[in-house]
Amino acid sequence: MKAVIVPSFGDSDVLRVIDRAEPRPAPGQVLIQVEAAGVGYVDVMARKGDYQPLSEPGFIPGVEAAGTVAAVGEGVDGHWVGQRVFALTGRGAYAESVLAGVRDVVRLPEGVSAAHAVALGVNALVASLGLERASIKKGERVLVRGAGGGIGLMAVQLAALSGCEVTAITSSPERSDRLRDLGVAHVQDRTAGQDGSGNTYDIIVDPVAGADLGRYIEMLRPNGRYLLFGAAGGVPAPDAFGSIMTTYHNSPTLFAFSLNSVDADTVGAAAAELFSQAARGDLRAVIDEQVPLAEAHRAHERLESTPVFGKLTLRP
Ligand SMILES: NC(=O)c1ccc[n+]([C@@H]2O[C@H](COP(=O)([O-])OP(=O)(O)OC[C@H]3O[C@@H](n4cnc5c(N)ncnc54)[C@H](OP(=O)(O)O)[C@@H]3O)[C@@H](O)[C@H]2O)c1
Repeated sequence: MKAVIVPSFGDSDVLRVIDRAEPRPAPGQVLIQVEAAGVGYVDVMARKGDYQPLSEPGFIPGVEAAGTVAAVGEGVDGHWVGQRVFALTGRGAYAESVLAGVRDVVRLPEGVSAAHAVALGVNALVASLGLERASIKKGERVLVRGAGGGIGLMAVQLAALSGCEVTAITSSPERSDRLRDLGVAHVQDRTAGQDGSGNTYDIIVDPVAGADLGRYIEMLRPNGRYLLFGAAGGVPAPDAFGSIMTTYHNSPTLFAFSLNSVDADTVGAAAAELFSQAARGDLRAVIDEQVPLAEAHRAHERLESTPVFGKLTLRP
């Protein structure tokens, strides 16, 4: 099979397409013929050697894939063969075939393509399970930073579907228009100096962090919840969290949320619900570009240079 490997840590041009023997499923695993693999910042960090736990050079990146089950290992029901599925793979998805534990595999409903499944994938799971952890309620005011990014695009839609009033922060008039098309009530363009201030929020969804984190924590309403998902804007200064103390009498809650902390059954149930929402047309998968597998290096370059709108997917 064709696969993309990281032969040594470095820039996007280290990525190499190689021929490798198709893996065989171990007990409890399925072999998936990949139709789409997700490209995320986590893969960029793994390629650079910045992601813990560190993979030894020579690994195939890619934490999520969708396609058709081609074979099953010992102890796995044969009915999986031929099923269209999405899977969290841990690594290995940048390939024509990938292994996954059967507990990490979710069946895809009719009407949800492989590319759509990975475009929802990790990003929708993070947004959905994070909002659930923050006990999102109808009628609440939700602010989403990095709204045009992978997690942001899912968070704005899911918060709106929960009946919340959503404010999205993004970085251009074009991205603002596309967010309005997705049903966002209020859009703020940070390149025009709009930053969500002047209002307060029950929930702030933040995949950006960076130097402004403390200022955003101060925008929480009483009993507000802050969902920190990542640091696309850089790691915050240690004193940013001091805002929790200065706003102490509002009883703020800070959730740092990683999908890695959630058990497989909970992830599987959430993924099945998200794919049903997509099949019904309630939740939209947003794909920036479907890139051929052999051009994985270009997908990484794009992710690291210009902001993408939605997901980059790889097509073997
Ligand atoms: N918690 C988890 O389990 C989990 C899972 C996957 C990824 N992550 C992490 O979450 C973060 C975001 O992931 P993603 O896939 O959503 O990334 P992404 O698609 O690159 O989106 C990030 C968005 O943040 C905004 N942004 C970027 N730099 C900024 C800056 N300096 N200041 C303000 N806004 C900025 C941009 O949106 P606009 O242009 O629209 O403003 C950008 O599109 C990453 O750090 C990633 O590693 C966490």
